[in-house]
This record gives sequence, C-alpha cells and structure tokens, in this order.
Amino acid sequence: MWSTPSSSPSAALSPAEAKIVRKDAVFIREFEREDREEVRRIFYEGIMERIPNSAFRGFQQQPKTQFLYAMLTVMCFVVTKSVTLTCCTPFILMGARYYYSSKVIHNYLDHALHTDMADIEAYYMKPAGSCFWVAVLDGHIVGIVAAQGREEDNTVELRRMSVDSQYRGKGIAKALGRRVLEFAVRNNYAAVILGTTAVKLAAHKLYESLGFRQTSQSENHRLPGMSRSPLERLFFQIRYSRYRLQIREE
Ligand SMILES: CC(C)(COP(=O)(O)OP(=O)(O)OC[C@H]1O[C@@H](n2cnc3c(N)ncnc32)[C@H](O)[C@@H]1OP(=O)(O)O)[C@@H](O)C(=O)NCCC(=O)NCCS
Repeated sequence: MWSTPSSSPSAALSPAEAKIVRKDAVFIREFEREDREEVRRIFYEGIMERIPNSAFRGFQQQPKTQFLYAMLTVMCFVVTKSVTLTCCTPFILMGARYYYSSKVIHNYLDHALHTDMADIEAYYMKPAGSCFWVAVLDGHIVGIVAAQGREEDNTVELRRMSVDSQYRGKGIAKALGRRVLEFAVRNNYAAVILGTTAVKLAAHKLYESLGFRQTSQSENHRLPGMSRSPLERLFFQIRYSRYRLQIREE
C-alpha cells in the first residue's frame, strides 16, 4: 500500500510555489494548451526509441524466436546450398525485424497522436478523474505523464510517461510518477494501474521503485496498429506487463 511521501520537493510544488523555485530545479505542473507541441515531441521521441529496442534488444530476451531464426537459417542452407545466401539470412531476418517494428510503432504513434494525444485538454484535463502533467526545467518541458480515471473499478491508469532523453536519470520520471500517486490518493482511487511494452529495464525499475508490483505478463497483447498477420508475428514480438499499486483496500 502507498502513502504520500513526506519529502518529494519538486513533485509537491503548486504552480505558485514553482515560480520561486531554483532556476535549475524541476517542477511538475498541470498541462496547459501552449505545451501541446513540446508534449507531443517528447511523447513521439520516447515511442520512436521502441523501434530499435523491439527489433534488437527485445530479440535478446526471446530464446524461442532466436531458435526459430536459427532454424530458418539452417533451412536456407539445406534448400539453396548457398553459403553466401545462408550468411546473409541473419541480416535479412534482422532487417525484417526492424521493418516490422517500425511499421507497428508508426501505426501505434499515429493512433495515439489522433486520439488522446491530439486533444489532451478534452481527454485528460476536462474529465474530473483524469489529469496530465508536465515536468519543467529551466522553462523547458522535459517530461510528461497522464492519469486516466476508470470509474468501473475505481482505479486510475498511469499513461504516457516519458522524459526527454537529454534529461534522464535525474529523478524526473519518479517525480512525475509520485504526482500521479498523490492525485490518486486525493481522488480516493483504490489503486493505480499501468501497462507497458517497454523493453528497456529503466521503465520497469522506475515503476518498481515507485512501489508498483507486476501483476501479469502477456506475449499476445495487441497494440493499436498491429495486424497480427503471420509475417508480423514472425518479426515483431512484444511483452506486455501490467503493474498495480494498491492505495487502499476496497
Ligand atoms: C523510463 C523513463 C521514463 C525514466 O525516466 P528518468 O527521468 O530517467 O527516470 P528517473 O531518473 O526518475 O529514475 C527513476 C527510477 O527508474 C530507474 N531507472 C531510471 N533509468 C534507469 C536505467 N537506465 N537503468 C535502470 N534503472 C533505471 C531507477 O530505479 C530510478 O530510481 P533510482 O534512481 O531511485 O534508482 C525514461 O527512460 C523514458 O522516457 N523512456 C522512454 C519512454 C518510456 O519508455 N516510457 C515508459 C513507458 S511505459
């Protein structure tokens, strides 16, 4: 169970307090209309990192796919008897992984940028149980996060967490995450939930360090923009992890 931390200085500042904050300190404030382009940039860049991560880094975590590609390479030799073609096969397979990863991630981005990320005010700022925050450093937006309330099970979903790559490792995501947890407590939600397909350890460690526990993992999750065609299944795999942080018992 989560309780409000007593010392999360930058995360707990109101916009008025933020004005007197040190110039190099990060503060978190609610989204404003003028933030739109910077917010969309940070979101876009964060998601684009998934292309090489899903294609190459994710491959290192998938022994079944590695075995399958090794079999395809052997089959190539058996069928063609060509050493040159067989040597090229791993590169062709990795190229196909990059192509499918890029295709799916672009479709996913297109979907997000035409739904909630197209009108953040309407989607997150107007409904009472939802909100969107930005982290500001030296007058620049350096991180984003959203909270979307779900009445059906009295939970709030943490979404769209991303920090500008130049400002990572400074505790900005943690401050954004804490802001979501404080929001959940203030609004009497029972738990904060989230789902992630992040390949890199950073996102998983971040959620664990905030007190989230992993509740499930699935290899069959369908992202918006995925077709699940046989070729896409062969060259694009994701692992969808769900996390939950219980705030109070229902
Ligand atoms: C994941 C991400 C939001 C982390 O942002 P950040 O501001 O660098 O994170 P913080 O500095 O606040 O670090 C918070 C915690 O995350 C973990 N963490 C952060 N970077 C890490 C890294 N490179 N390796 C391992 N753990 C890391 C640590 O546990 C850290 O807590 P600690 O410093 O107390 O140990 C950032 O890397 C990002 O925007 N990535 C691209 C978009 C993305 O993947 N978003 C999450 C999708 S759900």
